Amino acid sequence: MWLPVLITACLYAATAFAIAVPRSHVVHEERLQASGRWVKRDRVKPHATLSVRIGLAQSNLHKGHDFLMDVSDPASPNYGKHWTSEKVIDMFRPADDTVKTVHQWLQDSGFPKNSITHSENKVWLAFPATAKQMESLLYTDYHEYEDPRTGSVQAACERYHVPAHIQQHIDYITPGIKLMAPSDIVTEDGARNLRKRKASNKDFQPMRPPRRHWIPHWPQWRPRPSSKENLRHCDVEITPACIAALYEIPPVFGEVHENNSLGIYEAELNYWDQLDLDLFFANFTHIPNGTHPIDKDIDGGVAKTTNISGAGIESMLDLESAYPIVYPQSITVFNVDDLVYQSNPYFSLASGNTFLDAIDGSYCTYSAYGETGDAPGFDPTYPDPAPGGYKGPLQCGVYKPTNVISFSYSGYEADVPIAYQKRQCNEFLKLGLQGVSFLMASGDSGIGNYPEPFGYDGPTGCLGPKNNIFNPGFPNNCPYVTTVGATKVYAGHTVFEPESAAYDPATSSMQTNFSSGGGFSNVYPMPSYQKNAVASYFEHHDPGLPYYSAVAADAPLPTLPNVTTLAGNTGGVYNRIGRGVPDVAANGDNIATYTGGVFGLQGGTSASTPIFAAIITRINEERLQVGKSPVGFLNPALYANSWVLNDITNGTNKACLGQGFKAVQGWDPVTGLGTPSFPRMLELFLSLP
Ligand SMILES: *[C@@H]1O[C@H](CO)[C@@H](O)[C@H](O)[C@H]1NC(C)=O
Ligand SMILES: *[C@@H]1O[C@H](CO)[C@@H](O)[C@H](O)[C@H]1NC(C)=O
Ligand SMILES: *[C@@H]1O[C@H](CO)[C@@H](O)[C@H](O)[C@H]1NC(C)=O
Ligand SMILES: *[C@@H]1O[C@H](CO)[C@@H](O)[C@H](O)[C@H]1NC(C)=O
Ligand SMILES: *[C@@H]1O[C@H](CO)[C@@H](O)[C@H](O)[C@H]1NC(C)=O
Ligand SMILES: *[C@@H]1O[C@H](CO)[C@@H](O)[C@H](O)[C@H]1NC(C)=O
Ligand SMILES: *[C@@H]1O[C@H](CO)[C@@H](O)[C@H](O)[C@H]1NC(C)=O
Repeated sequence: MWLPVLITACLYAATAFAIAVPRSHVVHEERLQASGRWVKRDRVKPHATLSVRIGLAQSNLHKGHDFLMDVSDPASPNYGKHWTSEKVIDMFRPADDTVKTVHQWLQDSGFPKNSITHSENKVWLAFPATAKQMESLLYTDYHEYEDPRTGSVQAACERYHVPAHIQQHIDYITPGIKLMAPSDIVTEDGARNLRKRKASNKDFQPMRPPRRHWIPHWPQWRPRPSSKENLRHCDVEITPACIAALYEIPPVFGEVHENNSLGIYEAELNYWDQLDLDLFFANFTHIPNGTHPIDKDIDGGVAKTTNISGAGIESMLDLESAYPIVYPQSITVFNVDDLVYQSNPYFSLASGNTFLDAIDGSYCTYSAYGETGDAPGFDPTYPDPAPGGYKGPLQCGVYKPTNVISFSYSGYEADVPIAYQKRQCNEFLKLGLQGVSFLMASGDSGIGNYPEPFGYDGPTGCLGPKNNIFNPGFPNNCPYVTTVGATKVYAGHTVFEPESAAYDPATSSMQTNFSSGGGFSNVYPMPSYQKNAVASYFEHHDPGLPYYSAVAADAPLPTLPNVTTLAGNTGGVYNRIGRGVPDVAANGDNIATYTGGVFGLQGGTSASTPIFAAIITRINEERLQVGKSPVGFLNPALYANSWVLNDITNGTNKACLGQGFKAVQGWDPVTGLGTPSFPRMLELFLSLP
C-alpha cells in the first residue's frame, strides 16, 4: 500500500523547492540545537556521492539489564550461567523482519539490491547514493557543515523523515542529523575529506590515570627479605604482607587454572620493566626473579620497556599491587593504542573503545545509541596515518577477554558525549553477560575533578554556573562495572583495626593525602541492585546537602550531559536518583613500590583497583577448581551480601569548595560497601552455583 505513495513522493520532492512531507512519513531524527562548533555552509551538490549507513533497530537492547541480572543475581536460578559471545550477538541483533522491511523499502525506492551491503554483525545496511536521491528518500536537504578549527567538512541535515511503518526498524541514518558521525562525505571529484585531529578539544577532555602520589624516598625502615611478614609498619608503608593481613588473603597452594589470568589495562605510555619487578619481588615477596606478565599489545601498544627510566608509575603500581595476591597465577597486560595516540592526551579517554574492540570483535561495528563502531573525531582510527603510527587495520577480537579486568584510569562523565558513554557501558554489560568482571578506579579527586591546573571543569573542579555541582567520574559511572574507592590505615594503627576512607581531615600525617572518588551519576539512573543500600544511606545518614533528581536524556553525538539544564538550577549539588559510586573499596595509600629502580610510596584508587581485581581472580580460581564459572558481574551478589565486606565508617571524599560525603555505617558514596574480606567473599561465592 505504501509503495505508490513513495513513488509519488519521490517525484514530488524532486521537483519541489520547499519540502512537503507526505502524511505517510514521520520525522525520525531532528537536531534541535545547532552545534556551536559546526558552521552550516552550502547545500550539498545534488550529484555528490554519500556513503549512506542505516543503523537497524536492535532487538532486546532494553532487556540487557534483566539478562545480566539473570546471570549475576544470586537469587536467580541462572546465576553464573554466562552466555557465549554468539548468544549475545544473536540476542541483540536486529530481527530478520527488520532487515527485510528496511531492505524492501530501499529497493522499492530505487536502490538496487546488490548495491546494499549488510554488515557482518547484521546491525547496519550501507549503500552509496547521491545527495539528490537521499533528499528524495528522506524529505530533507543536506548542507555541508564545517568545523573551522579542523577544516573537517560533513554532510548533515536538520531533520529527516521515514515512512511511519519503517520507523520502528531504524535506529539512525547517516548522513543525518549527526555531526561527527562516521559518515564521510565524498566530494564530486571523489576526494575524501580527511578529518584532522586536534590535540585539544574543549568538548572531550582527556582521561587521566587517577592522580598518583609518588613519593620516592628511602624508608626509615629498610625492608629486608627476612622481614617479608613484618606487619609493624603498615601504617607507614603498605607491603604485600600488610594487604594479605588486612583482607586475610592466604597464599595460593597447588596448581593454578590455565585460563584465569588477571587482565590489567594500560595506556598513556605506562610501560612495565623487569628490573623494577625483580627488585620488588626480592624485597617484598617470595615471587621468583624474572616473573613477568603476558603482554597483549593492542593496535601498536607497547607494554614493556627495557629502559628502567621509562618505567610507568601506573603499570608498576598495578603489577606490584596485584602480583603478590595472584601469584603463581599469571597477569595479562593489555597495552592500548599506538604510541602516537598514547602520547596525545586528547585520546586518552578514548582508548577504552580500542580495548573493547580488541577483546570483542563484534564491538568494532556495533551500533547503539546512534553510534556505529568507534566514533571518528573521538576515538583513534587505524591504520593511523601519523608518522610512526600503527599501520595495520583496527584490531577486532584479536584477544580473548580475561575473566577479570582491572582498569585504573578515569575521567569525568561531563566531558563525554551521552551516546558515546552509553554505547560503551552497554558493552561492559555484554561482557558481563559473558562472565567478565570489570573493576574500575573511582578516581582520586573526591566528588569533583581536580581544581586547576588539573581541572578542566571550571575553577573548582565542580559543575554548573556556581561551580558547586558534584562532578561524577567516567567510565566508573557505568552501572555494569564494579567501582573501587580507596582506604588507608590510620597512622599509629595496625592492620587489625578498621581502615578509614583515604582522606580523613581528623588525622594529619606524612601519609599521601587525596580524596577517593565517589558520588552519583547524572547519566545513569540508580540500578536496581543498589536501591536498598542507597535508600538506607539516605534514610539513616542523609548528607544534608541540597539535591536534584534527574538523569540526562538520550541525545545524539556529540551532545554532552549538561548538569545545568539537568538540575534546573534548583540549587541541588548532587543527583539523588543517579547510579551511586563506588561499590567497594580497598587500600590505596602508602603502597610500597619500585619504579625506575627507586623505592617509593604510591597511592590512589589506582592501587585499590588491582588489589580488588586480584582478589576476585583468586575467588574465580577457587570456583574454577570446583568446576564452577567465573563470578562475572559482581555487584548484585555483593549488594545482596554486604557481610562479605568490611564496612568503612571514617573519612570523607571532600573536593570542590570543601563539599563531600562522609563514610558511614552501610553503603556510602565514599567507600561503597567496604573493603574485601577474602574468607567471607570466598564463602559466599563458593556457596553460589
Ligand atoms: C582454556 O581455554 C582453552 C581455549 O578456550 C580451552 O581449550 C581449554 O579447555 C581451557 N582450559 C580449561 C582447563 O578449561
Ligand atoms: C631490595 O632493593 C634494594 C634497592 O632498593 C636492592 O639494592 C636490594 O638488592 C633488594 N634486595 C634484594 C634481596 O634483592
Ligand atoms: C634476576 O635475574 C636477572 C637476569 O634476568 C639477573 O641479572 C639478576 O641478578 C637477578 N636478580 C636477583 C636478585 O637474583
Ligand atoms: C629512557 O627513558 C627516559 C625517560 O623516558 C628517556 O629520557 C631516555 O631517553 C630513555 N633512554 C633510552 C636509551 O631510550
Ligand atoms: C591534606 O589536604 C588538605 C586539603 O587539600 C589540606 O588541608 C591538609 O593540610 C593536607 N594534609 C596533609 C597532612 O598534607
Ligand atoms: C549547559 O546549558 C546551559 C544552559 O542552557 C548553557 O549556558 C551552558 O553553556 C551549557 N554547558 C555546557 C558545558 O555545554
Ligand atoms: C573513627 O570513627 C570512630 C567512630 O566514629 C571514632 O571513634 C574514631 O575516633 C575515628 N578514628 C579516628 C582516627 O578518627
